[in-house]
Amino acid sequence: MPRSRAILLLFLTGLFGLAGWLLRAPEEPGTDQPDSYASPATEQPITPIPDSLALDARKVELGRRLFHDKRLSRDDTVSCASCHDLKMAGGDGQTVAVGVQRQMGTVNSPTVLNSAFNFSQFWDGRASTLEEQAQGPVHNPIEMASNWAEVIKKLSLDAQYVRDFQAIWPDGMKAANIQSAIAEFERSLITPHSAFDRYLKGDSQALSPEARKGWDLFRNLGCIACHQGVNMGGNMYANLGVMGDFFADRGKPLEKSDLGRYNVTGREEDRHVFKVPTLRNIALTAPYFHDGSIEKLEQSVDAMARYQLGVELSEPDRAALVAFMQSLNGRLPVVVP
Ligand code: HEC
Ligand code: HEC
Repeated sequence: MPRSRAILLLFLTGLFGLAGWLLRAPEEPGTDQPDSYASPATEQPITPIPDSLALDARKVELGRRLFHDKRLSRDDTVSCASCHDLKMAGGDGQTVAVGVQRQMGTVNSPTVLNSAFNFSQFWDGRASTLEEQAQGPVHNPIEMASNWAEVIKKLSLDAQYVRDFQAIWPDGMKAANIQSAIAEFERSLITPHSAFDRYLKGDSQALSPEARKGWDLFRNLGCIACHQGVNMGGNMYANLGVMGDFFADRGKPLEKSDLGRYNVTGREEDRHVFKVPTLRNIALTAPYFHDGSIEKLEQSVDAMARYQLGVELSEPDRAALVAFMQSLNGRLPVVVP
């Protein structure tokens, strides 16, 4: 009978509505949710960076020393910080990374700041956690060119390290524990209090009129379809060149690393698909894109509009988007090397 069905439908809709209301996300994420960094669909599309995460201070301190320790590389010349300089907003300012014996990589060093919020690590997302990621550079022949056995042999000569590992883990200095300490340190590298986050929290004066116009464009043009969540990126993969052929226009032969996620999954549809990078502190981390081919923020905004959205920006719109990008600089962590 159609009428009773309509009533049932009405009842169910009400029930779902109520459930949705009960399960609704809070307006702002609290600082007490260390295990769930990605924004579920029910939250605001972009949420402010929390002031701090609940971390183990001893691991953070140990990880800080490991992050800056050149003994993690074969010839003791390169540390994590060589390519992720915390005084340079967690990047290196180079087009592509330079490793041991000045060997050149093929991709740009992404920032480590706020990497805790990424749902996977690397441009192609091939590591799913920060712990797993830390394995990569140590073994990469053109980055640190070492291995855990070699690293542990060198670090074990350092009595302070041995004591500090033992104090945290009964099994002492193990590869997994080194990775755990480095990852915990990286989770301390978050940048709250950007002008934009203050605006999101209700301070309507925190953004200049131009940056506010940029924020409107960011939503209306559709940048927010990909750059979203607490990190304004880092929670999905997307094709580079949805509306145009970035690689044909680049005028440089294709590298294996340009295939992006295809290298991980082998699926045709993952060709040139990358993890959407964070836009937090983006004004401080030139050059841009996985290949470091884009020098200036203005150009990266133009390229995004053209290749991702099929839009040619007017001069004032580009300037507004750049002003908005500049409002994303947060409070940088103060770390003594
Ligand atoms: C020789 C330069 C170099 C060194 C040394 C290096 N990295 Fe990286 N790092 C890179 C590059 C380049 C990438 C991107 C590689 C890719 O995506 O294929 C990267 C990616 C990362 C990422 C992923 C960030 C993201 O948004 O996906 C993290 C985290 C990271 N490195 C941490 C570390 C740690 C920890 C160490 C030390 C154990 C380290 N790196 C050593 C150059 C370096
Ligand atoms: C379809 C998804 C998508 C849309 C829409 C999109 N982006 Fe991107 N964005 C990406 C991906 C993927 C990358 C990484 C490109 C690469 O690695 O070479 C990126 C990179 C960037 C970068 C450089 C980041 C870095 O660290 O190098 C900036 C800046 C940027 N986008 C801003 C924007 C702006 C502004 C808009 C709107 C005009 C926009 N994006 C629209 C997916 C998107």
